[in-house]
This record gives sequence, C-alpha cells and structure tokens, in this order.
Amino acid sequence: MPDTADMLRLEGLEVHFPIHGGLFARVLGRPAGAVHAVDGIDLNIGRGEIIALVGESGSGKTTVGRVITKLAQPTGGRNLFEGRDMTAKRGSSALRPYRHRVQMIFAYQALNQ
Ligand SMILES: Nc1ncnc2c1ncn2[C@@H]1O[C@H](COP(=O)(O)OP(=O)(O)O)[C@@H](O)[C@H]1O
Ligand SMILES: [Mg+2]
Repeated sequence: MPDTADMLRLEGLEVHFPIHGGLFARVLGRPAGAVHAVDGIDLNIGRGEIIALVGESGSGKTTVGRVITKLAQPTGGRNLFEGRDMTAKRGSSALRPYRHRVQMIFAYQALNQ
C-alpha cells in the first residue's frame, strides 16, 4: 500500500493557455501571450481525505480538476497517482485503468435524488 500522502499529488502544476488573435497574432503569426490559469500548484491528497478547492471565478479551480481527470494537459509540473507519474499518459486505452479510479462526480446527479 502506498503512503497515503501520495495517493494524488500535484507538483508545481502549471497550465498556461496561449492568447491568440489581436494584432500580434495577425502581424507576427504567434501568440500574444498566455493566460496563467494555474501557476505552480503543489498538493497532496491522501487516501480518504476530502479537499475543497475554493477561490474566485477564473482562479483556475476547474482547470486543476481537468488536469487531474486527464481532460487537460499541463504546460508544466507533474501529476502523480499512487506514486505513478500520469503527466505524459495519453489515449483512452492507456488511461482506462486510471479513469476507473479517478473521475468526475456530478453533484446534481449524485446528491439530488
Ligand atoms: N480552454 C481555455 N482556453 C483559454 N483560457 C482558458 C481555458 N480554460 C480556462 N481558461 C482561463 O483560465 C483561467 C482559469 O479558468 P478556470 O479554471 O475555469 O477557473 P475557475 O474554475 O476557478 O473559475 C480563466 O482566466 C479562464 O478564462
Ligand atoms: Mg470553474
């Protein structure tokens, strides 16, 4: 059994979205900058622990959830599950065992019956 502190672990997680459009993109043909949606998060979630991510709109909560559930790819840092580095894993067959263990639970469906 892995150390409980290591069940789900984010190390320096970073998600930057390129800003397209505008004068820079049209003239220079490259992104004008980047939205720093997530800028270096370290987080450990142990077995049985419940974590609430709280912050103002646009502070990056959904993006963190999307990285953890492998719906978005980080631009930096790592996400580990039970000590295994999931950061570079892609594709439905490679991710199938992970998706059996880590998935979204939609509150309306789960709690409102
Ligand atoms: N796919 C995307 N492309 C570009 N910018 C995005 C994308 N997703 C989120 N963002 C931007 O990243 C920031 C964080 O968004 P989000 O994670 O949805 O925040 P929260 O869930 O805390 O409201 C916001 O500035 C948002 O506009
Ligand atoms: Mg959100």
